[in-house]
Amino acid sequence: MELQLWRTMLEPYSLAVDELIVKFNHIKNEFEYLDQYSPIESVNGRVKRISSILEKAQRKNIDLDDVETKIDDIAGLRIMCRFVEDIDRVVEIIRKRSDMKVLKEKDYITKSKVSGYQSYHIIAEYTVQSLKGPKTLKVEIQIRTLAMNFWATVEHSLQYKYKGNMPEHVKDKLLKSAKAIVTLDNEMSVVRKEIMDAQNYYQLKTEIVSDILTNIENLYKVANKREVMKIQDEFLSIYETDDLERMSHFCKELDIVAESYRAQRIQ
Ligand code: GTP
Ligand code: MG
Repeated sequence: MELQLWRTMLEPYSLAVDELIVKFNHIKNEFEYLDQYSPIESVNGRVKRISSILEKAQRKNIDLDDVETKIDDIAGLRIMCRFVEDIDRVVEIIRKRSDMKVLKEKDYITKSKVSGYQSYHIIAEYTVQSLKGPKTLKVEIQIRTLAMNFWATVEHSLQYKYKGNMPEHVKDKLLKSAKAIVTLDNEMSVVRKEIMDAQNYYQLKTEIVSDILTNIENLYKVANKREVMKIQDEFLSIYETDDLERMSHFCKELDIVAESYRAQRIQ
């Protein structure tokens, strides 16, 4: 195939990668809008370079006319999660979507590869629209923790350096560090709940404080200054206790006060 034709062939893959990055980032944003913890930490993607496609076709004895059907990772997405448990949640989200059809799943987490590599792979079908009409193509989505990603990146650059002849002592070191990654991810899982609770606590506190401050600000416009000052002092003393339940109770009471002023104005 001429170089120009390769470029044309790759164009829809580039669109698919761009669109999917937007979509996965949007999922992350949706969680954030809802003040919920997002299982997606970050997402990136790439289209395989022509030289890598040629190299893979040669290595796997694939006819150049069959690269689109036989090479699954021409379009590649990578989703990073903080905790191992988040990976399942991302997989579940992908399975439920109607714009991606899961063709294959490879679980290298339950059973890592001999190199020590860990990741969850999904091969999915995805359709893009272009001037020539719709085109359905394959994308490879790799889902892994930040720690797994760190290991895979380092190991990949070593593979590149040794070009398939990695010395045994380097392989051993990598296997040892892969085990350390498993331990790290497991230990992080233990604190996951605590981290999430802390995040939720902080988010809730921010919302309550901001509601209270908005109400106080509005009361300054309509209520007796002395009375508002009293409310403000009361808020500050509750705030100092850092007692979320008292703050929430105070917030509800203040809502009632603010509501009664609003009702008076409407009459
Ligand atoms: P290739 O490994 O890409 O030839 O395809 P495959 O059909 O064997 O699929 P596999 O699921 O084994 O690998 C798909 C992709 O996962 C690779 O292209 C890499 O990005 C990644 N991967 C797989 N094994 C390893 C590994 O041992 N180390 C690293 N760093 N990445 C790996
Ligand atoms: Mg492989």
